[in-house]
Amino acid sequence: MKHVFVATDGSDTAMKAIDMAAEMAAKFDVPLTVGHVLQFARPSAELARMAEIEHLAQSASQKSTVDFRVLTGHSGDLFSDTRPSGDVVTAITAIGDEIVHRADARARELGVREVDTMTEQGDPADAILDMATSAGADVIVVGHRGLGRLKSLLLGSVAQKVLQHADCTVISVR
Ligand SMILES: Nc1ncnc2c1ncn2[C@@H]1O[C@H](COP(=O)(O)OP(=O)(O)OP(=O)(O)O)[C@@H](O)[C@H]1O
Ligand SMILES: [Mg+2]
Repeated sequence: MKHVFVATDGSDTAMKAIDMAAEMAAKFDVPLTVGHVLQFARPSAELARMAEIEHLAQSASQKSTVDFRVLTGHSGDLFSDTRPSGDVVTAITAIGDEIVHRADARARELGVREVDTMTEQGDPADAILDMATSAGADVIVVGHRGLGRLKSLLLGSVAQKVLQHADCTVISVR
Protein backbone atom coordinates (compact mmCIF):
# COMPACT_ATOMS: atom_id res chain seq x y z
CA MET A 1 0.00 0.00 0.00
CA LYS A 2 1.47 3.32 -1.11
CA HIS A 3 -1.27 5.92 -0.93
CA VAL A 4 -4.83 5.80 0.41
CA PHE A 5 -7.67 7.88 -1.04
CA VAL A 6 -10.94 8.34 0.84
CA ALA A 7 -14.10 9.90 -0.59
CA THR A 8 -16.54 11.74 1.64
CA ASP A 9 -19.94 13.31 1.05
CA GLY A 10 -20.09 14.31 4.72
CA SER A 11 -22.43 11.45 5.70
CA ASP A 12 -22.03 9.34 8.84
CA THR A 13 -21.06 6.34 6.74
CA ALA A 14 -18.41 8.36 4.93
CA MET A 15 -17.03 9.33 8.33
CA LYS A 16 -16.59 5.64 9.09
CA ALA A 17 -14.75 5.36 5.78
CA ILE A 18 -12.47 8.22 6.86
CA ASP A 19 -11.67 6.49 10.14
CA MET A 20 -10.83 3.22 8.41
CA ALA A 21 -8.78 4.94 5.71
CA ALA A 22 -6.91 6.98 8.31
CA GLU A 23 -6.21 3.95 10.47
CA MET A 24 -4.76 2.14 7.46
CA ALA A 25 -2.67 5.13 6.36
CA ALA A 26 -1.37 5.60 9.91
CA LYS A 27 -0.54 1.92 10.35
CA PHE A 28 1.34 1.65 7.04
CA ASP A 29 2.67 5.20 7.35
CA VAL A 30 1.54 6.20 3.86
CA PRO A 31 -0.07 9.46 2.69
CA LEU A 32 -3.84 9.92 2.76
CA THR A 33 -5.84 12.06 0.35
CA VAL A 34 -9.39 13.09 1.21
CA GLY A 35 -11.68 13.96 -1.70
CA HIS A 36 -15.12 15.53 -1.89
CA VAL A 37 -17.23 16.12 -4.99
CA LEU A 38 -19.20 19.35 -4.82
CA GLN A 39 -22.86 18.60 -5.43
CA PHE A 40 -24.09 21.53 -7.50
CA ALA A 41 -26.60 19.35 -9.33
CA ARG A 42 -28.04 17.47 -6.34
CA PRO A 43 -31.65 17.68 -5.13
CA SER A 44 -32.03 20.34 -2.49
CA ALA A 45 -33.14 17.81 0.15
CA GLU A 46 -29.76 16.10 0.02
CA LEU A 47 -27.94 19.43 0.14
CA ALA A 48 -30.00 20.51 3.12
CA ARG A 49 -29.06 17.27 4.91
CA MET A 50 -25.43 17.95 4.09
CA ALA A 51 -25.74 21.43 5.54
CA GLU A 52 -27.34 20.05 8.71
CA ILE A 53 -24.64 17.53 9.43
CA GLU A 54 -23.10 18.44 12.74
CA HIS A 55 -23.66 22.11 12.01
CA LEU A 56 -21.45 22.04 8.95
CA ALA A 57 -23.10 25.16 7.65
CA GLN A 58 -22.66 26.89 10.98
CA SER A 59 -18.91 26.40 11.09
CA ALA A 60 -18.59 27.03 7.37
CA SER A 61 -20.51 30.28 7.69
CA GLN A 62 -18.10 31.53 10.34
CA LYS A 63 -15.50 31.46 7.58
CA SER A 64 -17.60 33.00 4.82
CA THR A 65 -20.41 35.47 4.48
CA VAL A 66 -22.90 33.12 2.86
CA ASP A 67 -26.49 32.75 4.00
CA PHE A 68 -26.94 28.98 4.07
CA ARG A 69 -30.69 29.28 4.03
CA VAL A 70 -30.31 29.39 0.25
CA LEU A 71 -29.98 25.61 0.47
CA THR A 72 -33.14 24.95 2.45
CA GLY A 73 -35.53 27.51 1.02
CA HIS A 74 -37.37 27.53 -2.27
CA SER A 75 -34.07 27.94 -4.04
CA GLY A 76 -34.04 24.15 -4.27
CA ASP A 77 -35.94 24.58 -7.50
CA LEU A 78 -32.89 26.23 -8.94
CA PHE A 79 -31.29 22.83 -9.26
CA SER A 80 -33.86 21.41 -11.60
CA ASP A 81 -33.60 23.64 -14.64
CA THR A 82 -31.06 26.43 -14.57
CA ARG A 83 -27.59 26.77 -13.14
CA PRO A 84 -27.57 27.27 -9.37
CA SER A 85 -27.30 30.87 -8.21
CA GLY A 86 -24.01 32.36 -7.08
CA ASP A 87 -25.08 32.09 -3.43
CA VAL A 88 -25.90 28.41 -3.77
CA VAL A 89 -22.55 27.76 -5.41
CA THR A 90 -20.74 29.64 -2.63
CA ALA A 91 -22.67 27.76 0.06
CA ILE A 92 -21.99 24.36 -1.45
CA THR A 93 -18.33 25.22 -1.89
CA ALA A 94 -18.01 26.40 1.72
CA ILE A 95 -19.68 23.23 3.02
CA GLY A 96 -17.43 21.11 0.81
CA ASP A 97 -14.35 22.86 2.20
CA GLU A 98 -15.61 22.25 5.72
CA ILE A 99 -16.23 18.55 4.99
CA VAL A 100 -12.67 17.94 3.79
CA HIS A 101 -11.23 20.16 6.52
CA ARG A 102 -12.90 18.02 9.21
CA ALA A 103 -11.76 14.82 7.57
CA ASP A 104 -8.22 16.17 7.46
CA ALA A 105 -8.31 17.01 11.17
CA ARG A 106 -9.75 13.59 12.03
CA ALA A 107 -7.07 11.78 10.02
CA ARG A 108 -4.28 13.70 11.75
CA GLU A 109 -5.89 12.90 15.10
CA LEU A 110 -5.70 9.22 14.16
CA GLY A 111 -1.98 9.57 13.47
CA VAL A 112 -1.69 10.08 9.71
CA ARG A 113 1.40 12.18 9.06
CA GLU A 114 0.69 13.25 5.49
CA VAL A 115 -2.87 14.34 4.65
CA ASP A 116 -3.99 16.17 1.53
CA THR A 117 -7.49 17.35 0.58
CA MET A 118 -9.16 17.84 -2.80
CA THR A 119 -12.53 19.04 -4.02
CA GLU A 120 -13.87 18.52 -7.51
CA GLN A 121 -17.12 18.91 -9.35
CA GLY A 122 -18.97 16.78 -11.83
CA ASP A 123 -20.25 13.22 -11.69
CA PRO A 124 -19.33 12.02 -8.16
CA ALA A 125 -17.95 8.61 -9.14
CA ASP A 126 -15.99 9.92 -12.13
CA ALA A 127 -14.56 12.76 -10.05
CA ILE A 128 -13.61 10.35 -7.23
CA LEU A 129 -11.78 8.12 -9.71
CA ASP A 130 -10.01 11.14 -11.26
CA MET A 131 -8.93 12.53 -7.90
CA ALA A 132 -7.70 9.12 -6.72
CA THR A 133 -5.67 8.71 -9.91
CA SER A 134 -4.12 12.15 -9.72
CA ALA A 135 -3.24 11.57 -6.05
CA GLY A 136 -1.48 8.35 -7.06
CA ALA A 137 -3.68 6.27 -4.76
CA ASP A 138 -3.60 2.48 -4.92
CA VAL A 139 -6.53 2.04 -2.53
CA ILE A 140 -9.86 3.90 -2.58
CA VAL A 141 -12.07 3.85 0.50
CA VAL A 142 -15.77 4.79 0.30
CA GLY A 143 -18.78 4.34 2.55
CA HIS A 144 -21.35 1.77 1.42
CA ARG A 145 -24.05 4.44 1.69
CA GLY A 146 -24.10 8.21 1.68
CA LEU A 147 -26.55 11.08 1.96
CA GLY A 148 -29.04 9.55 -0.47
CA ARG A 149 -32.43 8.45 0.79
CA LEU A 150 -33.03 5.29 -1.24
CA LYS A 151 -32.38 2.96 1.66
CA SER A 152 -33.50 -0.08 -0.31
CA LEU A 153 -30.23 -0.08 -2.21
CA LEU A 154 -27.59 -2.27 -0.60
CA LEU A 155 -24.83 -0.14 -2.01
CA GLY A 156 -25.19 3.51 -3.03
CA SER A 157 -24.91 4.34 -6.72
CA VAL A 158 -21.68 6.29 -6.30
CA ALA A 159 -20.02 3.47 -4.37
CA GLN A 160 -21.27 0.98 -7.00
CA LYS A 161 -19.84 2.96 -9.87
CA VAL A 162 -16.48 3.46 -8.14
CA LEU A 163 -16.26 -0.28 -7.44
CA GLN A 164 -17.12 -1.08 -11.05
CA HIS A 165 -14.72 1.33 -12.70
CA ALA A 166 -11.68 1.57 -10.45
CA ASP A 167 -8.40 -0.01 -11.55
CA CYS A 168 -7.23 -0.30 -7.97
CA THR A 169 -8.56 -1.89 -4.80
CA VAL A 170 -11.77 -0.35 -3.46
CA ILE A 171 -12.96 -0.80 0.10
CA SER A 172 -16.58 -0.02 0.92
CA VAL A 173 -17.07 0.52 4.63
CA ARG A 174 -20.26 -0.42 6.52
N1 LIG B 1 -20.21 13.84 -3.52
C1 LIG B 1 -19.39 12.93 -3.02
N2 LIG B 1 -18.10 13.26 -2.75
C2 LIG B 1 -17.26 12.35 -2.24
N3 LIG B 1 -17.61 11.11 -1.93
C3 LIG B 1 -18.87 10.72 -2.18
C4 LIG B 1 -19.82 11.60 -2.73
N4 LIG B 1 -20.99 10.93 -2.85
C5 LIG B 1 -20.77 9.69 -2.40
N5 LIG B 1 -19.49 9.55 -1.97
C6 LIG B 1 -18.85 8.36 -1.40
O1 LIG B 1 -19.60 7.23 -1.73
C7 LIG B 1 -20.13 6.61 -0.56
C8 LIG B 1 -21.49 6.02 -0.87
O2 LIG B 1 -22.38 7.07 -1.21
P1 LIG B 1 -23.49 6.89 -2.34
O3 LIG B 1 -23.74 8.24 -2.90
O4 LIG B 1 -23.08 5.80 -3.25
O5 LIG B 1 -24.75 6.37 -1.49
P2 LIG B 1 -26.15 7.09 -1.23
O6 LIG B 1 -25.94 8.57 -1.15
O7 LIG B 1 -26.73 6.42 -0.04
O8 LIG B 1 -27.00 6.69 -2.50
P3 LIG B 1 -27.31 7.54 -3.84
O9 LIG B 1 -26.34 8.67 -3.96
O10 LIG B 1 -27.17 6.53 -4.92
O11 LIG B 1 -28.72 8.03 -3.64
C9 LIG B 1 -20.11 7.72 0.50
O12 LIG B 1 -20.06 7.20 1.82
C10 LIG B 1 -18.82 8.43 0.13
O13 LIG B 1 -17.70 7.68 0.58
MG1 LIG C 1 -25.11 9.71 -2.68
